[in-house]
Amino acid sequence: MRSDCEKVSLLLVGIGGFGNFYIRELLYGARAEVFQIVGAVDPYAGTGETARELHDRGIPVFDTLEEFYRIHRAELAVLVTPIHLHAGQACYCMEHGSDVLCEKPICAFPGDAWAMIEARNRTGRKLAIGFQWSFDEAILRLKQDIMDGVYGKIRRMRTIVFFPRGLTYYRRGSGWAGRRKLDTGQWILDSVASNAAAHYLHNMLFLCGSRISESAEPRVMEAEVYRANPIEMFDTCALRVSVTDGAELLFYATHAVPGAQAREPEFVLEGEKGTVTLGYREGETAMWGCTADGRVTVYEKPGADGMGKLSCMEGAIRKGEPLSCVAETALPHLKCIWGLAESFPETPRFPERYIEYEEDGEQYTCRGLGEALDNCWQKGSLPYEEEMAWARKPHEIFLGNTFYHE
Ligand SMILES: NC(=O)c1ccc[n+]([C@@H]2O[C@H](COP(=O)([O-])OP(=O)(O)OC[C@H]3O[C@@H](n4cnc5c(N)ncnc54)[C@H](O)[C@@H]3O)[C@@H](O)[C@H]2O)c1
Repeated sequence: MRSDCEKVSLLLVGIGGFGNFYIRELLYGARAEVFQIVGAVDPYAGTGETARELHDRGIPVFDTLEEFYRIHRAELAVLVTPIHLHAGQACYCMEHGSDVLCEKPICAFPGDAWAMIEARNRTGRKLAIGFQWSFDEAILRLKQDIMDGVYGKIRRMRTIVFFPRGLTYYRRGSGWAGRRKLDTGQWILDSVASNAAAHYLHNMLFLCGSRISESAEPRVMEAEVYRANPIEMFDTCALRVSVTDGAELLFYATHAVPGAQAREPEFVLEGEKGTVTLGYREGETAMWGCTADGRVTVYEKPGADGMGKLSCMEGAIRKGEPLSCVAETALPHLKCIWGLAESFPETPRFPERYIEYEEDGEQYTCRGLGEALDNCWQKGSLPYEEEMAWARKPHEIFLGNTFYHE
């Protein structure tokens, strides 16, 4: 039996990019008292600043997982690596005795997700997927209220988010951003819906799930996807997803608006007995619910503690507490991403006359896109239904049960 004052030993896989946030938190943040980094794996760490910082603290950095596990063990492995590596690395770490917190999305290829679930079941390890809003106290409180019927049966939920990104975003890392598949044949499916804004599509599925660690099952999707950037996947999407119990989820996300139009996620959830809004209230972002009987519930703003998922891992490891986002919770999001990939083997580009290029920010945008998506979000419509000149007929995608039997 481990003592509560002993730190949880942790292996960090991937120390550049988002891995740096983990390093800051684990070395200098609140979780420095809870976890002990016993090693890191990153073949591209080189002699960069982060690698030096770890080295100065006596934390070894390896090129491969094999090298780490040859000598060391870790209770928890945190995977912050490109999407195509998640499955293989998660399985390897679980097989070598570590519980795993794998960054979102779970992976790109459904068969890889089954392999992860099978390895978890066989090894008896824990496997969480790092959609941080699904570990967020405010979101979990809201989900409990939804499950308790405070807002009645959910009819519709609409989410909008604009994260402007230039070419530097697509050039970062080892060249996997915006890719559909690597030259090795490994699936990446990196898009605005599977990476930067993935949280908010997943969040709608998550909130509509009938248990805490369950997400709603998507059945049919009407989808428009576009790109302004020279990428294989899409930087813009407008989706209407129908889930099992009949709720309609609308998702509008883009990287292709100018920096000045950046917009944090906002949503409106409409239930039979009330609504919940994440938006602006008295000049500040807030999340609040109103019920038909006039009751108003103010929730904390989600995302206050993006690293809360580490505390949940600690609770799971030390006390066997349940995890609110496990592999199965993340599958409905993957089902949408895979459905989009199958339906759109190639991504339509916005017509040339709408595309603008901003030299300083090295950013491609689509003229008028922000206003168009906002209009759609307000109405719950798709750009094609609003007769936007650049819009193409949405693909109707049936997300059948076969996904779960491959
Ligand atoms: N939760 C969030 O808010 C959030 C935010 C950003 C990224 N992410 C996720 O984090 C993951 C990484 O994204 P990123 O943007 O940091 O990518 P990145 O390409 O910028 O960084 C990935 C890191 O992994 C390293 N790496 C590459 N191959 C490796 C290997 N074989 N073994 C170990 N390390 C290896 C790279 O050297 C790099 O340091 C993705 O799954 C992404 O979706 C999550």
